[in-house]
Amino acid sequence: MEIIIQPDSGTASALAAKIVARIIKDNPDAVIGFPTGATPLEFYRNLVRMHREEGLDFSRTTTFNLDEFVGLPPDHSGSYHVYMDKHLFGQVNVGRDRIHIPDGLAADIPASCRRYEEEIRTAGGIDVQILGIGVDGHIGFNEPTSSLGSRTRIKTLTRQTRRENAAEFGGEDNVPYHVLTMGIGTILDSRLILLLAFGAKKAPIVAQTVEGPVTALIPASALQHHPRTILILDEEAAGELAKADYYRYVYEHKPDWQKY
Ligand code: F6R
Repeated sequence: MEIIIQPDSGTASALAAKIVARIIKDNPDAVIGFPTGATPLEFYRNLVRMHREEGLDFSRTTTFNLDEFVGLPPDHSGSYHVYMDKHLFGQVNVGRDRIHIPDGLAADIPASCRRYEEEIRTAGGIDVQILGIGVDGHIGFNEPTSSLGSRTRIKTLTRQTRRENAAEFGGEDNVPYHVLTMGIGTILDSRLILLLAFGAKKAPIVAQTVEGPVTALIPASALQHHPRTILILDEEAAGELAKADYYRYVYEHKPDWQKY
């Protein structure tokens, strides 16, 4: 894992956007996996600005979202269809037929999850997957004890995750219990993973993810097995890393050809 510690979430988000923009410029047909939540909002603002001001072209990119709630119509204000349209897809030139978000209304959920995996494979796999992380260590909505080899499927959210999402639904009672999410195995198949984590609230789980044992109790710890995962953190989220000084030292001394 590469750990990059930035002074604040603004510089961290800008760096993540710069890395993704470089990937799109190098390969206009890039396949990108996107998350939702509070963490990537500034990252999306950067991508939109780069599209408007620098001509960053999404017309040939293909996208796959990590997850979606079960049972919500795509126009529900809490759905990730609406979130993505508002924060990214509606503001850049990505082709509508190239956007993929799990179908939380599918009549046959297992078949729809298998199809999602098939669509990822047909697209050639995910070149770069962006992730946030839950305070319990979930990535996508792979809650603790998720199989580290799991594929796209239905999951039940923990009480804590439903509480975390309450604001979007006008109260915890309205948050769906179920989601469709890429599995940990699906995520680990991505060629590059960028995990963003900001704020002191994420510090304990970031430390366990990076420096603790690999365990299904901390699903994000499975990323230790991935050959190209970059964590982009602000100072607060890096606050409990025992080897933070080492990560800073490595970043400062990157060979020029490896710099972002
Ligand atoms: C959302 C997702 C989740 C979030 C995580 C952190 O698509 O996959 O894993 O990334 O719950 O959420 P925030 O960023 O709101 O703290």
